[in-house]
Parts: sequence; structure tokens; C-alpha cells
Amino acid sequence: MRVVFLAPTFPPEMIQYTRGLAEVGAKVYGIADTRPEALPRELKPYLHDYLHVPRIMDEDDVINRATKWLQGVSVDRVLANWEPLVILAARMRERWGMPGMSSDTVRGFRDKQLMKERVQAAGLRVPKSKRCTSEREIRAAAEEIGYPLIVKPIAGAGSADTYRVGDAKELEKTLQLVRHVPECSCEEYITGEEYTFDTVSIGGKPAYENIASYLPKPIEARSNEWISPVIITVRDMYQPKLKPGVELGRNVLKALGMGDGFTHMEWFLTPKGEAVFGEIGCRPGGAHLVDQMNYTSDIDLFREWARVATWRSFEAHVPRKYNVGIVFKRALGQGRITRITGLNDWLREAGPWCVEEKLFRPGQQRRNWKNTLLSDGHVVVRHPDWDEAYRLSFAAATDITRFAQ
Ligand SMILES: Nc1ncnc2c1ncn2[C@@H]1O[C@H](COP(=O)(O)OP(=O)(O)OP(=O)(O)O)[C@@H](O)[C@H]1O
Ligand SMILES: [Mg+2]
Repeated sequence: MRVVFLAPTFPPEMIQYTRGLAEVGAKVYGIADTRPEALPRELKPYLHDYLHVPRIMDEDDVINRATKWLQGVSVDRVLANWEPLVILAARMRERWGMPGMSSDTVRGFRDKQLMKERVQAAGLRVPKSKRCTSEREIRAAAEEIGYPLIVKPIAGAGSADTYRVGDAKELEKTLQLVRHVPECSCEEYITGEEYTFDTVSIGGKPAYENIASYLPKPIEARSNEWISPVIITVRDMYQPKLKPGVELGRNVLKALGMGDGFTHMEWFLTPKGEAVFGEIGCRPGGAHLVDQMNYTSDIDLFREWARVATWRSFEAHVPRKYNVGIVFKRALGQGRITRITGLNDWLREAGPWCVEEKLFRPGQQRRNWKNTLLSDGHVVVRHPDWDEAYRLSFAAATDITRFAQ
């Protein structure tokens, strides 16, 4: 089994997927824009061969170089687990006549307007929305959809350039802020809780499923620096309250023609108990979500995904043992971290339930919290009981403080 895997070096967890592929017996042909001498040492044992390209986002150039590189090699799969590369992987599959999702199918997981149209056509509930390419179109869409509404990029990630707009006056301000965005989606604002629905699927049928709860909604976490965003996987994901989300998620996969691999969907649970589609990608969730899912059941989804993507089989036994909370922490002030308070008390309280503590230490430079949910490090805590996992997560959110200057 020969597998082309795009960007085994970035984001850093791609090293784990490369490991997974090697562990299930695939020969991995990596392609990335990292110079060969700069490849991480821990990645090298899992790569069978490697092509360095100057610009990984230049699709035509990468396809041409890879075609030359692989002359005489019969490749079985082309895979990518990073959102910006899923279309490139599909185009390579088409060019080389390989099994897997077509670029048209993958566009349904990448283009936020197209995905909503396809999901709606299957009779599923999506926010009312319009694709807009000019200020005039955004104003007209707002008129039609009404307030509050969401303005966001059609091809977005990380909640970048995403705004909630309360009225016509706010819309004028927002128009200035999204000027550089070529295509926007203008959407009805859905009130309610926000969750993920994640799968590893075979032929569009989930072999693995997960739900995680966003506390608070990503748009709020991204608009307020003082918030420590918390995400908790829900051990009891088949409880009646969340059933509409599971059903919606499975139906969305059918509607979009999902093939094999990871999916990461976001959905809203309205106060009336209705599940409304948010968005979906045909790749794993980022920001350590796969680690959280692994901690939930003590499994290795990096490897199980690889088994699915190559041999179309999922072998892990998946007992849902824990609710797993991750707490992203942002320091107070700018510059370098100078001091930490509350950490020792929290660690004592969490005891064995804390499974990861990767907070930045004094001397380390803060990350730009607007650019990454990863913030200035995180803790992961798990517990079989939801209330206890919730309590320990929020204790970390409120009681651990770091100062920077
Ligand atoms: N129609 C909507 N109604 C209410 N909230 C919304 C809506 N669309 C987006 N949001 C909020 O904005 C956030 C970001 O939107 P979306 O998930 O579409 O963008 P994204 O940039 O791909 O996000 P990410 O990469 O962080 O998942 C959502 O998680 C949600 O909190
Ligand atoms: Mg999102």
C-alpha cells in the first residue's frame, strides 16, 4: 500500500497521522514545503520518501512536481488531513485515477455556501444564508435575512473574520472589517448551544463517532480575550438531548457523499431542542480534539484513521469512559509570561484526573490569541462523571492565572 500524504510536517499533529500510516503497513510518500534537512527527527522513521516543494498551496505546481517524482511508482491513496490541502489531494486523485472523494465532493466540505445548499437539499435544517461578493450584496442579504446575522468568509477557519451583526449600523462597521475577504457568507444567527459531531467514516458511514461541547461558542471565545475557552467531549453522547445532533450528523455525511476518513462538523442545539447544521470539514478537528477523543476512550485514532484510509477497516474497541475537557489559557498582559498563580492548587485538586498540563512557563512569549485557539498552552482533565469534568475544567479556567509583560 503506497500512500501520498500531504504536509506530514504541518500542523504538528500530522506527524502522528504519518506514524499511524506507517504502523498499519503503508509506505508513506510525504509532500511538504519543509526543506528536507529541517524535517522533524521523529517524523523521519515513518516516511518512505519525501518531496520538498517550494509552495505547498500552489496546487498546479505541486501536482506537476509530484507527477514527475512518482513516475513509475504505483500509488494507492492520496490523503490530506489539513483543511487547506483537501482539495489538492482530491485533484491529485483525479489526475492519477485513484479511489477516494472527487474534488467536487470535497468542495461540498470546503465551500460553506455549497455545503449548506447540499445539506438543505437533503431536507436538513441549515441557517438561511447568501453568498456575497460585494458590499451591495451583503446589504441586500442582510435586508432579506434580518438581524442578528453572521458575516463570515466562505472559505474560513479558526473563526477568522467572523462577526455577529446586531443591526444595520453595526453592519456598516462590519463591512469595513471584511473588505479584504473575497467571498462572504451572510447567515441567519442561530441561538443556542454549540457542539461538534466528529467521525471516522468508511464509505460515509461512521465507524467512530464523537460529540464535544464548546463552552462558550467559538465566536464568543474568539471575541473576548479574558475567556479561557473550554471544550469537553461528551461521554454520554447518545443521551436524548443530543440525539438530533447525531441524526443530523449522519444524514449530513450521506447528503455530501462522504467517503473514507475523518469528518469534523459543528452544529447548534436551539433552546427548542432542534439541531441546526453549522459547518463541516472532511478532516479531523484541530486544536488537540483528536487527543481529547483518544483520552475519552483510551484509543489511538491517529492509527485507526490510517487503517480506515488505507484498508477501510476500523479495529479499535471504543468504550466511552470519560468526559475529557481541554482548557486553553490566555495570560494577562502582553509579551512574556512572568508569573503563574493557582496552578499548584488546581493540580492538587485535579489529582490523577489531570492528564496533560502544557501551560507556557515564565520566560515564554505569549501567542497571539486572535490567531490561534491554542493560546498560551492548555490543560486536559478527564472524569467519568460529566459534572465533575465540567467543574474541574472551569476551575482551571477561572483559578489558574498567568501574568505577562
Ligand atoms: N449562523 C450562525 N449562527 C450562530 N453562530 C454562528 C453562525 N455561523 C457561525 N457562527 C459562530 O461563529 C463561529 C465560527 O464560524 P464557522 O465555524 O463557520 O467558521 P470557522 O472559521 O470555520 O471556524 P473554526 O475553524 O473555528 O471552526 C462558529 O463556531 C459559531 O460560534
Ligand atoms: Mg467552525
